[in-house]
Amino acid sequence: MTSRYAVIGNPIAQTKSPLIYQEFARQTGQDMSYEAIQAPLDGFAAALAAFHARGGKGINVAMPFKLEAFALATDLTQRAQLAGAVNVLRLDGERIFADNTDGVGLVRDIRVNLGVAFRAARVLLLGAGGAAHGAVLPLLEEQPALLAIANRTVAKAHALGAQFSRHGNVVAGGYADVAGEPFDLVINATPATPCGELPAVPAAAFRRCGLAYDLVYGKGLTPFLRFARESGAGHLADGTGMLLEQAAENFFIWRGIRPETRAMIQELSTPLV
Ligand code: ATR
Repeated sequence: MTSRYAVIGNPIAQTKSPLIYQEFARQTGQDMSYEAIQAPLDGFAAALAAFHARGGKGINVAMPFKLEAFALATDLTQRAQLAGAVNVLRLDGERIFADNTDGVGLVRDIRVNLGVAFRAARVLLLGAGGAAHGAVLPLLEEQPALLAIANRTVAKAHALGAQFSRHGNVVAGGYADVAGEPFDLVINATPATPCGELPAVPAAAFRRCGLAYDLVYGKGLTPFLRFARESGAGHLADGTGMLLEQAAENFFIWRGIRPETRAMIQELSTPLV
């Protein structure tokens, strides 16, 4: 029997998930369907229950429902508990198993696809919102020499750093606190604003930076990536690979089989110009 999966979000029109998971299913020979569901802003729980009642086996949680999905879960992985938000649910009878695979997708893209080593690296993470929360534990598990978190609202950076301090070498502060310090890897977890504002990261951060990585995808050369390139970053990447790697991890959670991502990363990538 065909197993049903879906992504639930609002808005959902731009989602690439059906394309990605249908290709993964084809590639691995899995008998499954995948649909996009737009839930009303106050209707996530009802949409999830309705999909479950129709035999749904799992969902991807898109914005803005990642916190609500976290609250509805009965079983959470450690990384999901620490992130406080989830992006994937597996529906097992009455149980709702939930995980946050965004950070592990980011790490896998950087280490495996882009070939950048974390061990002994000095890593700078910009932002302290939902995306940054999901990234911190998977980044620390790679045992970098240092993870520095910088955010516009300094108190939020401090709170995030304190939450993860027993998991690795983390420091946190404002953008001015990293002035003059070079990093091997700089990751932007602040959203690309429509007016092109840039987090106030000092240019020196990129002086010996091997890779500048922007979590957004499909936007070409973002203000962050342009600034990184002008400031000396050796390599630039956007979040297309992260998107595919978290999807592959979700697919594994649902189906126990890991699809290949490389061809789809190439297909969905937009030039960084
Ligand atoms: P997400 O869930 O995508 O991470 P979020 O939770 O709203 O989104 O977090 C947005 C992050 O980007 C925050 O760290 C925010 O900084 P503040 O904590 O100071 O609000 C940061 N951010 C958003 N716009 C920014 C800007 N123009 N300059 C610098 N940081 C910005």
